[in-house]
Amino acid sequence: MRNVWWLCVAVSLLDQVMLAWSQLASPPLPVLPIPSATQLKWQRREIIMFLHFGMNTFTDSEWGTGYESPSSFNPTNLDANQWVGAAADIGVSLVILTAKHHDGFCLWPSTYTDHTVEKSPWKGGKGDIVREFVDAAKARGVDVGLYLSPWDRHERSYGQDLQYNEFYIAQLQELLTRYGSISEIWFDGAKGADAANMTYYFNDWFSMVKLLQNSINIFSDAGPDVRWVGDESGFAGSTSWSPINRTMLTIGNESIVNYLNKGDPRGTDWVPPECDVSIRPGWFWHKPEAPKSVSKLLEIYYKSVGRNCVLLLNVPPNSTGLLSETDVKRLKEFHSAIYTIFSNNLIKGSKVKASSQRGGQRGGFSAENVLNDDELSYWAPEDTDRASWIEMKLSDNGVISFNVIRIQEAIWMGQRIKNHEVYADGKVVGQGTTVGYKRLHRLGKIIQARSVRIRITKSRGVPLLSSVGLHLDPFAASSNCI
Ligand SMILES: *[C@@H]1O[C@H](CO)[C@@H](O)[C@H](O)[C@H]1NC(C)=O
Ligand SMILES: *[C@@H]1O[C@H](CO)[C@@H](O)[C@H](O)[C@H]1NC(C)=O
Ligand SMILES: *[C@@H]1O[C@H](CO)[C@@H](O)[C@H](O)[C@H]1NC(C)=O
Ligand SMILES: *[C@@H]1O[C@H](CO)[C@@H](O)[C@H](O)[C@H]1NC(C)=O
Repeated sequence: MRNVWWLCVAVSLLDQVMLAWSQLASPPLPVLPIPSATQLKWQRREIIMFLHFGMNTFTDSEWGTGYESPSSFNPTNLDANQWVGAAADIGVSLVILTAKHHDGFCLWPSTYTDHTVEKSPWKGGKGDIVREFVDAAKARGVDVGLYLSPWDRHERSYGQDLQYNEFYIAQLQELLTRYGSISEIWFDGAKGADAANMTYYFNDWFSMVKLLQNSINIFSDAGPDVRWVGDESGFAGSTSWSPINRTMLTIGNESIVNYLNKGDPRGTDWVPPECDVSIRPGWFWHKPEAPKSVSKLLEIYYKSVGRNCVLLLNVPPNSTGLLSETDVKRLKEFHSAIYTIFSNNLIKGSKVKASSQRGGQRGGFSAENVLNDDELSYWAPEDTDRASWIEMKLSDNGVISFNVIRIQEAIWMGQRIKNHEVYADGKVVGQGTTVGYKRLHRLGKIIQARSVRIRITKSRGVPLLSSVGLHLDPFAASSNCI
């Protein structure tokens, strides 16, 4: 009897061991809300580009009146290949064009108004800038987005709800059926104080957009796919949740900008923030203006991409119809600065250990996953681990000199981390709230340490880290050693 009992225990233990050796632990459940595939693709673009171009380019204004003569619109050497080339050369994979701004002048020959390129001297009225833009983008493998201003100061039906909404949807249909696949459409609530009081039928517009384009992201203050970050300086909140409650959002409501900026840890909808900012003081090109410095652009990068945002950087073509040489040069410098900082992960190939690993050593969720290039793998602690951390050390136990910490969550499983701390040789060097797709800590000085530990102190469910990096930023204000 006694012998049989021992045998049973031994067999069942062996069984469990065999199981552990032959099977991976299942992944944890996602923590809702999670992104759609289209939103995830958008997030991974990190930097996308806006091109503000139109009547304002020729009248030296930001908001046209709608009374401009189409004869003013005459770019002498327009080349959309140059616009898209500048974007593609720095790895930008999505470019958005202002098909119509508030002045109502259309860059394509819309059949619903005569205020278009067709009435301009450009190409004898035979041109279509949206077409040239889309063709140029296709040739370089770059995706396109469009902006169609809801506020139209030229259109006479503006102010009459039914007529104007019908007109607007008609123009949307032109843009979303004539030019192939459109990846993002941009709506805003911008409107002058003198504008007629009218209601935009956003629900009708959004439904029509989704019908006509099945892999598009709709951007507006209220999403549904991507939300405005709440400012035009390119800065997300230092707490930045992709989840938010759409029921709280209305387009053009000034009192929700703070909510838009931070998002909502209890939000039920995945509507990640997009940071729109111009490389110049204006959105449109003005001869005397100059692009922002590399150091300003880097600050924007850290506070947008480094705070769980996509950066939508506007670069306006000039009245010749080309991006100014100064802007193209600045874009390259910006890109090369980012490359200098982030192409070298100082802890690549280092030893990683963690407070625990889901399913143990062979579970498939090992701590080393944060250093591989597989963007789908991640480190997961055990469900019971209430004080999770991950620690990196060089394999030769050498000193790491860094001033940037990069942390990334496996956001397709939900945005989870609420609070985290970073320790270098046991001393706190960085702390923050949310992480999301990417969190960058740019430190005030270079830290030298043999071990770096990231502690997750508060989280919705267990934290899941997909990637971690330590970097050296030679452009930081004070990059002296301590
Ligand atoms: C605008 O119109 C709406 C709906 O008709 C109305 O409720 C609102 O009071 C109006 N606002 C102004 C400023 O006239
Ligand atoms: C604007 O947002 C505030 C705060 O959520 C809300 O109380 C108010 O009703 C909103 N206004 C409109 C016009 O939706
Ligand atoms: C968002 O919705 C959730 C679920 O209904 C709720 O718990 C949370 O309080 C809401 N957030 C705000 C700011 O009202
Ligand atoms: C526009 O930029 C191009 C360089 O890309 C330059 O040759 C041209 O002179 C500029 N046009 C104006 C009006 O500044």
